[in-house]
Amino acid sequence: MALIGPSLMCADMGNLQDSVLTLDQAGVDFFHIDVMDGKFVPNFTLGPDLIKRLREFTEKSFDIHLMVEKPEDFLNLFIESGADMISVHAEATNHLQRTLQTIKDRGLKAGVAINPATSIQDIEYVLDVVDYITVMTVNPGFAGQKFVPLMNKKLADLTYLINENGYKIDIQVDGNIGYETIPDVLKNGANMLVCGTSSLFKPNLSLELAVSKLRNFIE
Ligand code: DX5
Ligand code: ZN
Repeated sequence: MALIGPSLMCADMGNLQDSVLTLDQAGVDFFHIDVMDGKFVPNFTLGPDLIKRLREFTEKSFDIHLMVEKPEDFLNLFIESGADMISVHAEATNHLQRTLQTIKDRGLKAGVAINPATSIQDIEYVLDVVDYITVMTVNPGFAGQKFVPLMNKKLADLTYLINENGYKIDIQVDGNIGYETIPDVLKNGANMLVCGTSSLFKPNLSLELAVSKLRNFIE
């Protein structure tokens, strides 16, 4: 069964505590928290102090998506803020294997994220240390962008690569995941849906209703 993970950068910034409480109550599976440094991507979003504060309002997994240069320099900061899972970009570090191993050694789930143009061959030799792979289905940095069509082929190729090697790795999709794109990404092997403006955070739709609509749609 696919997991639903609200992307909190799309939530009401003036009402984050209530949004987290409501989403938790509505039955989401994890919270996707985007961190940006203005260098790896041309934007800034949520930081460790906010994450630490939000940690008080839910037991559900915090999936920290580090869209930052040299993520290895910031692991401690986010582990101490309450992360349960951390994904780092293959494109953002010279030491991907060591960074992923460090996350795992600290007892968290380790994820590797790849931008649309990045090949799955670039992460082939870390498949034994990752718990999940975040396939960026938009170019990272902003919500509300358009799904990159070739990403369905990438998902199918990645699913094949994982199965052929007998790994147990979750495939997370991140960007423009909504009613038009979900059927194909599920068919091609995704099982963790990062849900933002295309599915959960819509004007005039309550979070409770958005979650139950989405749950019914994917089941
Ligand atoms: C983009 C972020 C996504 C984004 C998803 O860089 O990683 O999590 O917030 O937002 P939508 O669903 O609107 O594309
Ligand atoms: Zn993200």
